[in-house]
Amino acid sequence: MDPGGIDYNELKRQAARAALQFVEDGVIGVGTGSTVNHFIDLLAQVKDRVQGAVSSSQASSLRLEALGIPVLDLNEVGWLDLYVDGADEANRRLELIKGGGGALTREKIVAAASRRFVCIADESKLVEELGRFPLPIEIIPMARSLITAKLQELGGRPQLRQGFVTDNGNQILDVHGLHINDPVGLEKELNNIPGVVCVGIFALRPADVLLLGTTEGVRVLSREGAA
Ligand code: 5RP
Repeated sequence: MDPGGIDYNELKRQAARAALQFVEDGVIGVGTGSTVNHFIDLLAQVKDRVQGAVSSSQASSLRLEALGIPVLDLNEVGWLDLYVDGADEANRRLELIKGGGGALTREKIVAAASRRFVCIADESKLVEELGRFPLPIEIIPMARSLITAKLQELGGRPQLRQGFVTDNGNQILDVHGLHINDPVGLEKELNNIPGVVCVGIFALRPADVLLLGTTEGVRVLSREGAA
């Protein structure tokens, strides 16, 4: 419950519940975070329809397995029909900032391998312009000072996420102060810096559907031309 009296945890649960309608028989891609944790818990209730899940993090894998949902290797599965994941920010074009939980690289891989990406979030995540949330970037540790300098040239203020190692053994820079008015362009530009493993802008492959938990129920936003 926040000081304004809004129970954001309940709004996350609402969005997660709404995502269940997209689940069909077969294998499902599952993201990471507190909103997705609600989704995993609800998925367990329909697990007879779910053959297994491709997971975007060790944390989600542990939760899935504890609830009796088999975790499968993406290489064995190939394409997925559905990926469900949360976001730190979303704009109206369903471009996202992700990586607050540090799982952005695997999240981007699973999103890219999925025909439909359903994003679940509470209403506070919808923004006019991405960038108030510090942009997470997963980096190879030896390139940290090089990448820091390049990000500063772009007007960002990168901060090393202290005491954090990704599931891939890398570090995260959280970049403050970027104006992300061209998410696709910035995602491409940052992808080109040597040593960058993954940028937390999901604009080249945005979400197809955004389910927002609001105090007035679940709001559905769909991307034009999406599957
Ligand atoms: C993890 C993510 C999460 O989807 C994002 O941080 C949102 O988390 P939450 O559902 O806890 O608000 O990108 O890397």
